[in-house]
Amino acid sequence: MSLEIKTIGILTSGGDAPGMNAAIRSVVRAAVFKGIRVMGIRRGFNGLISDDMFEMNIRSVSEIIHRGGTVLYTARCLEFKTKAGIEKARDNCNENGIDALVVLGGDGTFRGAKEMSDAGIPCVGIPCTIDNDIACSDYSIGYDTALNTAMNMVDKLRDTAQSHDRCSVVEVMGHKSGYLAMTVGIACGALAVLIPEIPYDMDRDLIDRMLFTQRTGKKHFIIVVAEGCGSAAEISEFIQSRSGIETKATILGHVQRGGSPTVQDRYLASLMGFRAIELLSEGIGRRAIAFKHGQLMDFDIEEALSMTKPLDKELLTISQRISI
Ligand code: F6P
Repeated sequence: MSLEIKTIGILTSGGDAPGMNAAIRSVVRAAVFKGIRVMGIRRGFNGLISDDMFEMNIRSVSEIIHRGGTVLYTARCLEFKTKAGIEKARDNCNENGIDALVVLGGDGTFRGAKEMSDAGIPCVGIPCTIDNDIACSDYSIGYDTALNTAMNMVDKLRDTAQSHDRCSVVEVMGHKSGYLAMTVGIACGALAVLIPEIPYDMDRDLIDRMLFTQRTGKKHFIIVVAEGCGSAAEISEFIQSRSGIETKATILGHVQRGGSPTVQDRYLASLMGFRAIELLSEGIGRRAIAFKHGQLMDFDIEEALSMTKPLDKELLTISQRISI
C-alpha cells in the first residue's frame, strides 16, 4: 500500500498510561516537520464518532512531556464496536480530510486500529498500557512508571507491616495479566506473588510459605496479588483466619496509572511517536509499533493482534526461591 498522507488524526484510547503525552508530542512535532497537518481527537474513538477534534501545532504539545495522563483525554467507546459506529468514524475522518490515524492504547485500541484500517483509514498503533500485555511488543508505554509507582507504595507498606509484625496483601492492576504484579513482587521481595497466568494453591503458596519463614525468624510478610486473581480483602481474611497473623489489604488502584512518566516511558514514547510518522509519511499504514528484543520494530496490525506473549513462568520460581 502506498498513499500520500496530508492530514493525520491522533487519539488516545482505553486506560491512560504515563508517557502518552510524550508520544503525542513526538507524533505532532514529527508530523509538522514533514508538512503533515495534525488533528487531535478527544476521548479516543468517541471523538471520531462525535467529530470532537481540533487542529494541533508544535506549540499545542509544549509542556506535556513530563505530565502523566493524556491531554487528548481518553475513553472506552462502545459505539465504536458497532458497524454503524465505525462507519460514522470513517465518514468524520473523510469530512475532516484525515487520511490516516495514529492511535495510542492497548489491545482494544489496536483492534480499533484494525477496524479503521479495514474501513479505509490506515492506522498506526503505539502500545500504551500499564499492563504491558500487548503481545507484539516486549514493552508498552506506561509500564515502567506504573512499576515504579507500585514499588514505592509497597516499600511504604513494608515499613508499617514490619513495625507491626503484620502481613500486607497488596493488589496491583494488570487486567488479566500478571506482568505488573510479578515484576513488582520480585522488585519488592514479596514472599508470594499471585498472578492469573499460573494456578496457585492458597495453603501451599501462601500459608505454608508464611509459616515456614516465620519459623526461620520472619515476622512480617508482603504478598502481591494481581487484580486478575481476585480480591485482596478476601485473600487477607483467608490468611488471617488460617495463619493467625494480622493481615491488612491494600488496593493500589488507579494511583498506578498516574504520575510523571519515567525516563524509559518518555524516551520510548518519543521514539515510537517518531517512528509512527516515518511510516505514515512513507505511505505505510496498518502497522503496530513495537519494542522487541531491545529494538524498535513495526508489524502488520493483524499479525500483531494474532500474537501471544506468555509470561515467563520461571519468574515465579525465582521470586519464590529468593524471597523467603
Ligand atoms: O488497562 C489498564 C487498566 O488500568 C487495568 O490494569 C485495569 O484492569 C483497568 O485498566 C481499569 O480500568 P478503569 O480505568 O476503567 O477502571
